[in-house]
Amino acid sequence: MIRLALLISGRGSNMEAILTAIRSGVIKNVKPTVVISDKKDAIGLEIASNKFGIPVKVVSQKGIKGWLYDSQIVTVLQNFGVDPDSGLICLAGFMRILSPEFVGRYRMRIINIHPSLLPAFPGLHAQKKAIEYGVKVSGCTVHFVNDGVDSGPIILQQAVRVVNNDTEETLSDRILQQEHQIYPRAVKLFAEGKITVVDRHVSIMK
Ligand code: GAR
Repeated sequence: MIRLALLISGRGSNMEAILTAIRSGVIKNVKPTVVISDKKDAIGLEIASNKFGIPVKVVSQKGIKGWLYDSQIVTVLQNFGVDPDSGLICLAGFMRILSPEFVGRYRMRIINIHPSLLPAFPGLHAQKKAIEYGVKVSGCTVHFVNDGVDSGPIILQQAVRVVNNDTEETLSDRILQQEHQIYPRAVKLFAEGKITVVDRHVSIMK
């Protein structure tokens, strides 16, 4: 069993999509062990706790940055048995950049979802940047986390057309629907051992 931790900061709809896929048996061999938030009022905490019965922990910011903060997360992960050599960490709208120490410890075992076709529009407000730039196609990306911002090896991507009169909200909504498809799919591939990574290149076994 792969012990899974989900890190969130807000709504937690990607977390919910992953937990639903696990509960329904679409994803096997993964045990959700803890949901961690940097915000105590994250709505996703209630969903994790009330709907899925998963332990939740808040590691609040209090102005602490880098490894000083991340080491507190690592302590929670250790307490829940999410180990660097066997666990999995899914960032699901977790709005903090992880320190190199954290990423190094859990190398290729931290996955993130981002609402653009990376490497376009990394960082915050990806959907707004896509609209402002005038791209005709955007989308979402699931990738491993490395030391950079939204720059790790890409596992899955899904394109979403940008249409006339799209606003940040309408585009975000359509991208989010696709996020809910590809994130659970990526976790399933990981759990089935179908992902190999060489340098930046992710291969997926058929
Ligand atoms: C999602 O759109 C996710 O791609 C984005 O935040 C949203 C979280 O929604 N993440 C980032 O922008 C990370 N750079 P959720 O809390 O409902 O899953």
